[in-house]
Amino acid sequence: HNDVFILAIESSCDDTAAAVLRNDKVLSNVVAGQKIHEEYGGVVPELASRAHQQNIVPVVDMALKRANVNKNQLSAIAFTQGPGLMGSLLVGTSFAKSLSLSLDIPLIAVNHMHAHILAHFIDEEGFDKPEFPFLALTISGGHTQIVKVNSFFNMEIIGETTDDAVGEAFDKSAKIMGLPYPGGPLIDKFAKEGNQKKYQFTKPKVDGLNFSFSGLKTQILYFIQRNVLENPNFIEENKADICASIQHTIIEILMEKLKMTVAETGITQIAIGGGVSANSGIRETLKNAEGKYGWKTFIPKFEYTTDNAAMIGIVGYQKYLENRFNDASIVSKARIEF
Ligand code: KG4
Ligand code: ZN
Repeated sequence: HNDVFILAIESSCDDTAAAVLRNDKVLSNVVAGQKIHEEYGGVVPELASRAHQQNIVPVVDMALKRANVNKNQLSAIAFTQGPGLMGSLLVGTSFAKSLSLSLDIPLIAVNHMHAHILAHFIDEEGFDKPEFPFLALTISGGHTQIVKVNSFFNMEIIGETTDDAVGEAFDKSAKIMGLPYPGGPLIDKFAKEGNQKKYQFTKPKVDGLNFSFSGLKTQILYFIQRNVLENPNFIEENKADICASIQHTIIEILMEKLKMTVAETGITQIAIGGGVSANSGIRETLKNAEGKYGWKTFIPKFEYTTDNAAMIGIVGYQKYLENRFNDASIVSKARIEF
């Protein structure tokens, strides 16, 4: 059996990423972030596509170089078809198409959300792979989903947000506190020193396995405004406690729905994915859930949580094994059927 070499490209939002895999092992995983968005307090689509355009060639070159793989050794090119920002997706899609045509090797389109889930199948020492069927909680800046994963190519969304994503809840709360974008990692950092019980926020009431985060954001806005009116230094003096309390509330919302999902499906294997799964509070809570509830939880290696191309590559590899290829008529999709 010959080794399969996949070059994977991810450009759905504001990170230009490329990775090279040999079968299910990651040989290189390169991500070029885009600092430019920080001063705008969010991703500016037009600037993102321009930066992808500049970054894509050096990022791919670096991925091949670090993997010590020549492009003539490649078996296939995998790329993110969607969901994401159209202008950003177009850069990766066009690049992948051209390279597959010039090398005369197969092209493989990958759904970004599937990739966040299937990243758990990357072969990494010290990391177990889930067994089908399992539950996936995908939490990112754009999505909040509970997915029942039946096999590599058969999964169904059984719960999702009705408004903001979890990442937005983190980022918007941070913005209210005057922290720069993306605020999620900063809330995580300050929360470590804080008292999570200091401030109470009410949790939204949402039916079934769905989520809602926009009410929490408004609640936090009023809470901050009210307190700053009384004490202009309120945020500065209580930063850690505010962050810890916000993070704690978000984690409780997620855990409540996960417990409901386990009760409904009888499935106790839970994998998390997406940028917000980098959160140390969420990682710790899920790890503790193993002893507390008897679940088996899967927490991805840090570099496979936020957007990366290795996760696109592992889906590419699984599709390669089943000859699930695409022809050059494939197009990017900002919204894509799950
Ligand atoms: O998956 P991702 O890189 O991009 C999307 O597809 O959205 O997720 C980015 C999101 C941002 O909202 C960011 O604030 C959040 O993940 N994030 C975190 C942490 N690291 C990244 N949120 C909370 N705690 C973190 N440590
Ligand atoms: Zn993502």
